[in-house]
Amino acid sequence: MGNILRQPAELSFQSELDILKSEDTGPKPSNWQLSPQAVVTYLLGGKSPSGKEISAKYIGNRRLIETAVATLATDRALLLLGVPGTAKSWVSEHLSAAICGDSTQVIQCTAGTDENQIRYGWNYAQLLSKGPSKDALVPTPLYRAMESGTLCRLEELTRMGSDVQDTLITVLSEKMLPIPELNDAVFAERGFNVIATANNRDKGVNELSSALKRRFNVVVLPLPNDLNQELEIINQRVAEMGASLDIPVPKNAVDEIKKVVTIFRELRGGETLDGKITLKTPTGNLSTAEAIAVMVGGLSQANWFGGGSLSAEDISSNIVGAIVKDPVQDKVVLEEYLETVLKKRRDFADYYHNINEVL
Ligand SMILES: Nc1ncnc2c1ncn2[C@@H]1O[C@H](COP(=O)(O)OP(=O)(O)OP(=O)(O)O)[C@@H](O)[C@H]1O
Ligand SMILES: [Mg+2]
Repeated sequence: MGNILRQPAELSFQSELDILKSEDTGPKPSNWQLSPQAVVTYLLGGKSPSGKEISAKYIGNRRLIETAVATLATDRALLLLGVPGTAKSWVSEHLSAAICGDSTQVIQCTAGTDENQIRYGWNYAQLLSKGPSKDALVPTPLYRAMESGTLCRLEELTRMGSDVQDTLITVLSEKMLPIPELNDAVFAERGFNVIATANNRDKGVNELSSALKRRFNVVVLPLPNDLNQELEIINQRVAEMGASLDIPVPKNAVDEIKKVVTIFRELRGGETLDGKITLKTPTGNLSTAEAIAVMVGGLSQANWFGGGSLSAEDISSNIVGAIVKDPVQDKVVLEEYLETVLKKRRDFADYYHNINEVL
């Protein structure tokens, strides 16, 4: 698997999972690979029982992750909700990797998702030659998760139509999937559950019916609440992504990350960090994930075109790309920010100059 662009969590963190598995003595829910405590340690990082280091995958409130893990051990499904870029998919992937060792049973829900992608489809050649049979049935990730007592991930649940969403009601409440064509049903094995993600800022989403909502426990993942926490997340992820892309991370990256996060937080919050100047906010949501993307883009530019260290010149066009989502409205917001705030800050002079140039 050496040449795979991005390995699933259970492979890229296999050694940590193996350590936790071999040292885990806590009681486990049926068919779980790890005890709930060990799953939380895997997600939030810390020490294994014998003192080996486990890296943090999610940086944030322990309670939220405990609630998420505890939910998955019940008969209710888990819905991770939050604005874009708050690590919903990331947490869902790592939870699945830690709990059932497979994070690849994913259904990406879109406006075009139909029931066949949720329940099962048919292999039409087989169906025509032999008629309906289990062999002609094409299982979906949800079907396979039920059969094997593992987790199925539903990405962007609210993007699919409400009628299709409601297909899940029987699955979640009765833990079975009827197959009327065969006069049969799949009964979920113990260990089966669903982790869905949805973001509450998107256009074109379909509200969950209250019948379905009742079958989910909702955990809201917030944007990081202070600058230091956000810096910690970004520094860590940029270092990891730099390593996986074979791009060296220059020493000054930490300082530049701090500047970029300052710009993001001020624009996102609608005022300067010292609270003295009120600002207009751009239409996009300038998440932590976007700050990570800006920095990784900048690193790549510095590596391939720059002089090795990271400068405002390498990052500025990415910053503009992240902030200006609406070419008219956001441009005005950014121009105003440059003139009223950045122009007056000596340590941001490079950014003022370079952003102005690309804007
Ligand atoms: N609190 C956090 N701890 C660790 N990583 C984080 C945190 N917040 C954001 N990230 C990073 O942000 C990146 C993007 O997160 P992810 O794609 O999971 O967001 P999302 O909430 O699913 O967004 P969307 O709604 O757009 O799908 C990940 O690489 C993740 O590491
Ligand atoms: Mg996502």
